[in-house]
Amino acid sequence: MRKKIVAGNWKMNNTITQTNTLIDGLKTELKETTLEDTRVIIAPSFVNLQQAVVATEESVIEVSAQNMHQSKNGAYTGEVSAEMLSSIGIETVILGHSERRTYFNETDQSLAEKVATAIEEGFEVIFCFGEQLEDREGENHFNVVKKQLTEALFGLAPEAYGKIILAYEPVWAIGTGKTASADQAQEMHAFIRKTLSEKYTDSVANNVSILYGGSVKPNNAKDIFSKPDVDGGLIGGASLKAVDFSEIVKAI
Ligand code: 13P
Repeated sequence: MRKKIVAGNWKMNNTITQTNTLIDGLKTELKETTLEDTRVIIAPSFVNLQQAVVATEESVIEVSAQNMHQSKNGAYTGEVSAEMLSSIGIETVILGHSERRTYFNETDQSLAEKVATAIEEGFEVIFCFGEQLEDREGENHFNVVKKQLTEALFGLAPEAYGKIILAYEPVWAIGTGKTASADQAQEMHAFIRKTLSEKYTDSVANNVSILYGGSVKPNNAKDIFSKPDVDGGLIGGASLKAVDFSEIVKAI
């Protein structure tokens, strides 16, 4: 059965001191919380990952990277490989975030390579995708999402989905304070599951966790998480405050 997951994408925020303070805060806030079937993941920036791994030892918090390169090693100045990440205890990576697509020209084709490398290297992938505002306004959002999934993920063998977490993040809802309604999220998540079941099997579709991301806050998390096909959230801004992120975790 699929897991509930609340993941915090810290993006390009937090120095080493702020990283330690935020992790301490999260540990305190979540101390008394029983998390049965829920995973809590944070994704600090590369430079703070190793410290985050150390600081979260013996806590419920897992640590993910925000990106990685598709090659195993080589002349790629400024890039980070899967092997480097696993050597410091990282086993999860976010790939395909809309900010990487927009500012760093990542495409579904290059993401297909990244996802393949990550899976080959034994990583779990939090794969982000979602439509732009004009796609939604033009009622083209289902087509866009299906194309993203097809091009970046549908070359994978069904077994790979044991290591895939999907994060539907409509671009118009990221950092805008404008969240998709719980019904809009449910509608898209159900469509994603149907698309997976058509391409693979019902079992693949039903076992993949699908997170919603885009302006999830303590005051709207419960509503969004109440939907049957929403298995949790990928949180940006609100993951930078221990109290807010913990409240979102508790809302699941
Ligand atoms: P916000 O929660 O700040 O809208 O960001 C969502 C996001 O991009 C998570 O990856």
